[in-house]
Order: sequence, then structure tokens, then C-alpha cells
Amino acid sequence: MIKTSAPGKVILFGEHAVVYGEPSLVAALDKRTYVEADEREDDRINITSNVDSRSLSLEDLSRGGEDPLRYVRKALDLVFERVEESTGLELKIRSETPPASGLGSSASVSVATILAVSKLLGADLSPREIADMGHRVELEVQGAASPTDTSIATFGGMLYVLPKEKRVETVDADLSLIVGYTGVERSTKVLVERVRALRESYPSIVDPIIKDIGKLTREARVRLDGGGEIGDLMNINHGLLEALGVCTEQLSRAVYAARDAGAQGAKLTGAGGGGCMIALAAEHQGEVMRAIEACDCSAMTSSLSREGVRIER
Ligand code: PMV
Repeated sequence: MIKTSAPGKVILFGEHAVVYGEPSLVAALDKRTYVEADEREDDRINITSNVDSRSLSLEDLSRGGEDPLRYVRKALDLVFERVEESTGLELKIRSETPPASGLGSSASVSVATILAVSKLLGADLSPREIADMGHRVELEVQGAASPTDTSIATFGGMLYVLPKEKRVETVDADLSLIVGYTGVERSTKVLVERVRALRESYPSIVDPIIKDIGKLTREARVRLDGGGEIGDLMNINHGLLEALGVCTEQLSRAVYAARDAGAQGAKLTGAGGGGCMIALAAEHQGEVMRAIEACDCSAMTSSLSREGVRIER
């Protein structure tokens, strides 16, 4: 039996714009997804998780469909193709982040599954290869996806993701973040498509917004390196995401409530449409959490995690 885990994440800057080649800044959370994999004698693949449980055949892995295990199915399909071998499996999955919330549960389950099952079959994939395979899972399941979520699930820490250059850079910074969860599940795929449609209808308006998000992500990187303030930049990024049409009234209420309660900056995080917001609060943490909770959200402080995907001992 092999047990692995990979961290969830929050996007600090650059969501949506990163799909069009702009950089993103992302941090790993100390909330992880655990995958336990064991070989079976027959060729059934039994998956149990906190969102769904199914018994699948090998043919089921490559079929389409919007079921909650589609990322796991695609991850298994790609691993079997890579190692040129397949096997029946018992897979147990437990995630500490809610599904479809923008906290990276899909990427962390994909990456942890890739490591667990490749190891079980005796293959030693490099972290780079795991990240690339994880990205392929997201591309094939979602249609469009940046390497942001799967890079951070693989490498951990804080990363500056440069999709055009196909490169990630490590950022050394520590932030006191509060995460507010609206409780509303949403589909990243639908929100990415919404932005694409808006861009197609109004290219001369939407393209500059995407470029501006890129500019402020670059500025945030410079400031984080120099120990500078990034609160205002978070607020501007939130405004631009509102302009792209991915915010909700509840998210914005929580963002404004957090700022009023003393947060240095606040924005939605991830694809939007529900999911989560983040607030930067070195001080007044109690007040900021209560303000977020008053907007029907759950609030948690979260430390950033240095460790990416790993084998659990
Ligand atoms: O996985 P989510 O819901 O946090 O969204 C990822 C961020 C997007 O930029 C909207 C999509 C992507 O692939 O980068």
C-alpha cells in the first residue's frame, strides 16, 4: 500500500488572466488531500472518497462525464498509459478542502493519485513530470486550464507561475491569510468559459483587463520579494475580477466586510462564482474572521505549507 498527499492552495493574484498566458502567484495551504492506493487481484478499480464512491472498470477511466471522480479517473488513465501497465486498485481519498471551492482539491487529488499509483507500479516520476501530468488531467477534464493549481500541488510553498515560459519560480514570503468559504460549489470550467465568451464579445475591453491583472501580479511579485505591502494590489485584482463577471454578491460582501474590519487587502480567490475569498490580515484577525462569518461564510486562518506532494510514512 502507498499513501500520498498533496496540498490545497489559494491563488493570491492572477486567476483567469493566467489562462491567457499572464503570470499567477499561488500559495500552498496546510490543508491536504490524502490518497491511499493498493493493488487488487482482479481489474476492478474501487474508489471511495468524501465526495463519491464507485467501482469502475478500466474502460470507465477514459470516458467523459461530469461525475465528481473525473479528475481521479483521468489521472489513473494517464498513469497507466505512461507506465504501460494497468492494475485493479483500491483507492481511498480524503480531502481536507471542500470540493469545487477554489481551494485546489481537484489538482491535489490528481497529483496525489499520480504519485501513489505510479509508485505502486514501480515507476519513479520526477516532480516536473508529475506536475505536467497533473496539468494534462486538468486540460483534458476542463478543456482550458493553466498549470497554476497542479504546480502548487506538486511543489508546495509559494510559486510565481509563468505559463508562457512553462516555468515556475519559488517565492519566499510569509503571509497571514484568512480564507472565507461561501459554501457555494461552482465549476471552474463554466467560469473559464464565461470569461472566454466575454473576451470574444468585447476583445478590446477584456484584453486590457487581462493584461492589467498580469501587470499587478508582476508588481505583487516584486513587492513580496522586497517585503512590501500587497493589500492594495489584492483590492485592485478583486475589482478586475468583478469586471470579468466572476464575482458574486456574497463574495463581494465578504471582501468588503473583511476590509472594513481591518484587513490590509481582500479578494475572491480561484475561479469565483462562489467558492472562496481571502483576506490579508496581520492584525485584527478575530474581527476580520467575524466580519466574514457575518456574510454567511465560514472563516479559517490557514498557514502556508512548504511541502508539495509527498509519500506519507
Ligand atoms: O481551481 P480554481 O477554481 O481555483 O480556479 C483556477 C483558476 C483559473 O485561473 C480560473 C483557472 C486556471 O486553470 O488557472
